[in-house]
Amino acid sequence: MILALETSCDDTCAAVLSPVGALLSNIISSQGVHDQFGGVVPEVASRHHLQLVNVVIAEALRKADTELDAIERVAVTQGPGLVGALLIGLSTAKALAGARGVPLAAVDHLQGHVAASFLPGVDPNGNPTAPLEPPFLCLVASGGHTFLALAEDHSSFTVLGRTLDDAAGEAFDKGARQLGLPYPGGPHVERLAAEGDASAFTFPISGGLGGLDFSFSGLKTSLLYRIRDLGEEATAHCRADLAASYQHAIVEALARRVEQAVAQTGVEQVSIGGGVAANGVLRRRLEGAATRVHVPPRALCTDNAAMIGAAALHGPWLAPGEYEGLDAYPTGRRDL
Ligand code: KG4
Ligand code: ZN
Repeated sequence: MILALETSCDDTCAAVLSPVGALLSNIISSQGVHDQFGGVVPEVASRHHLQLVNVVIAEALRKADTELDAIERVAVTQGPGLVGALLIGLSTAKALAGARGVPLAAVDHLQGHVAASFLPGVDPNGNPTAPLEPPFLCLVASGGHTFLALAEDHSSFTVLGRTLDDAAGEAFDKGARQLGLPYPGGPHVERLAAEGDASAFTFPISGGLGGLDFSFSGLKTSLLYRIRDLGEEATAHCRADLAASYQHAIVEALARRVEQAVAQTGVEQVSIGGGVAANGVLRRRLEGAATRVHVPPRALCTDNAAMIGAAALHGPWLAPGEYEGLDAYPTGRRDL
């Protein structure tokens, strides 16, 4: 059995997978303390990981109806992410693997988001769908990263396009803040937008950019100017329309690039990952974008340890003696 840990940002996550990759438990403890600051405070996140990590692991083992003695491998996020937060997961994983003398996999967080598609997905009615086999195109859109990749095999991917400024999730979070909604903004914008008219306002869709890259910083500025021009009272009156139109611009920017990538590469399998992939409007918009569109359950889109375990299934594994030192250390930012 594999125990997987993920602590790269503000969610403390542990999962247990069977040797053949069946997901037995997937525990996510969202710290819920960062909204008062309007974003994640790295030191606060690290301290909470420290308090939560053992509890979350115990819960993952309990839910999987197993115990630590049955764990034969440990997988953990190495980076990119907040270095202090990563350090908690990595140290815990090294200690557990080292004490038990079992192999350890230090997994790239972004490979993890791609690998979430190696686990079963869901159809629009919530029924399970088969895992996706490479090659496939994968749109990863989260709070820290936005890129479109070609996953040619189980252990790597080629980046076809990426954001040149803000990540799509960051655009949701910053827009939400301007609309007076709490952090993380994506789910709140989606809820408010459901009551609004997406064609009420026009926001830029980064269409002027060449290739398969994205840009979201102009969109955020555009919302700022629109709110300023409307004034407080009119803004309050049409918040739902603003949210719906703003969300529409982000979803269109992402979906059009996916369609373009399918046309350019001829790869007819598409999947999505990252927190923004939990967005229902994006999920519906992408239906039919390729012959096969794989949609992971929402819990496998936002940060989770199951995807880290799924990526680790395909290695590489470090043997005892190879990871106890500083050779498996947290890796910081990556420009995607
Ligand atoms: O992948 P994730 O959990 O963490 C990172 O690695 O960043 O993504 C978090 C991001 C946040 O920006 C959040 O606002 C966004 O995903 N998000 C959403 C939704 N749920 C989470 N964005 C749009 N719609 C949602 N339903
Ligand atoms: Zn992530």
